[in-house]
Amino acid sequence: MSDPKIVKLLDESSNRSSELPLISGTLGPACIDIGTLYKDTGHFTYDPGYGSTASTKSAITYIDGDQGVLLYRGYPIEQLATNSSFLEVAYLLLNGELPKPAEFAAFEHDVSHHTMLHESLKNFFQGFHHDAHPMAMLAAAVASLSAFYHDDLSVDDPADRKLAAIRLIAKMPTIAAACYRYSVGWPLRYPRNNLEYVDRFLHMMFEVPSEPLQMNPVAAKALDLLFILHADHEQNASTSTVRLVGSTGANPYASIAAGITALWGPAHGGANEAVLKQLEEIGTPDNVESAILRAKDKNDSFRLMGFGHRVYKNFDPRAKIIREMCHKVLAELGVNDPLLDVAMKLEEAALKDDYFVERKLYPNVDFYSGIIYKALGIPTEMFTVMFAIARTAGWIAHWIEQHETPGSRIGRPRQIYTGSDVRDYMPTARR
Ligand code: CMC
Repeated sequence: MSDPKIVKLLDESSNRSSELPLISGTLGPACIDIGTLYKDTGHFTYDPGYGSTASTKSAITYIDGDQGVLLYRGYPIEQLATNSSFLEVAYLLLNGELPKPAEFAAFEHDVSHHTMLHESLKNFFQGFHHDAHPMAMLAAAVASLSAFYHDDLSVDDPADRKLAAIRLIAKMPTIAAACYRYSVGWPLRYPRNNLEYVDRFLHMMFEVPSEPLQMNPVAAKALDLLFILHADHEQNASTSTVRLVGSTGANPYASIAAGITALWGPAHGGANEAVLKQLEEIGTPDNVESAILRAKDKNDSFRLMGFGHRVYKNFDPRAKIIREMCHKVLAELGVNDPLLDVAMKLEEAALKDDYFVERKLYPNVDFYSGIIYKALGIPTEMFTVMFAIARTAGWIAHWIEQHETPGSRIGRPRQIYTGSDVRDYMPTARR
């Protein structure tokens, strides 16, 4: 007999029941479709943090957290890391297929011809205090793009959506570099469109008017790889934020700006900055033991940054690649960073410790990435900005998918109300 693909739910107190269909994707566990639950039983579901809740169907990225698998459009992250480039991955995420040479050439041409910022937008940077955090500037500058591209943009028009995607992928490095240059008091640089994506960004970051920039190709290669690894990660907090904002019909630049603010938190993309600061605080391998003790102490809010993941319970495949790359990049650049010794000792100690083993806490993508960024000369406060440049490809691919999906509805969760029961207003004199 074939599987009925239905879950039956009976509320014994009211004797109301619901027959909830199971929905299967191409990979991963089947989901219980609870769309009729409230109508059938009068109940909502409760899942804070959404640990058991699929918020959408998506064909972009797949993660198997138990097996440590990450696929972009079906392609294993390890294969993309070895063979692809960030821009090709961006095309793949947006379009669903790897590009043929002419398709890639057209995409590269489009991206490189939307890299400039409106001159007025550059004035916004002058409004920030010189030590403003670059993530704050990035979020504000990206949100302000909606003031430049709003009236002529329809979120229902596929051509407009594509143009927004190209603009965002193209302008994000220009804005990111401007955030950095403003903070150090350098004049903003125009993008050099004859350079490739990552090279162009590194030139905008580090080239000064007074002398030519000697770029080490190892740096561009390393950054390109980091961008590939950070490009998408299905329904994480920032992508879900982009989708929630997008579900209201908001402008794409405003939706992506919301994603940037969500990414900034230390539990999410802000962890890369937090990891480096924590490694610096730990200082030497001798202090690793006391850091581990603090991380295990339930009376201490201290956590090992760069450890643990909601979905990966075996290992984070991105961390595996980055760890290997970290040793290689430092060797090729001739950098000897004592923080790498601290990181390795910390990883070794945590992986042997019952607390971390029982809770399946492994190094995540952010654990070693900061050491690489630091070796490339990228300041610590810019680490999460690097993440945002890469994740823009994923965010906008999800935003487009959402708008292409027929019947999409505004995102609007329910709640369990725990406040006062209904009561009468009390005049001031009687309170
Ligand atoms: N150090 C010490 N204990 C930890 C850590 C950690 N880094 N992470 C989780 N735990 C403990 C936690 O205290 C809890 O213990 P208990 O069961 O005794 O209460 C248990 O492990 C489960 O943790 P959780 O907070 O319920 O797990 P979560 O899935 O809600 O959170 C996480 C996932 C990534 C937010 C969390 O592991 C964390 O805060 N890690 C450090 C920050 C970090 O590296 N974030 C980057 C994530 S990967 C990149 C990205 O998403 O952008």
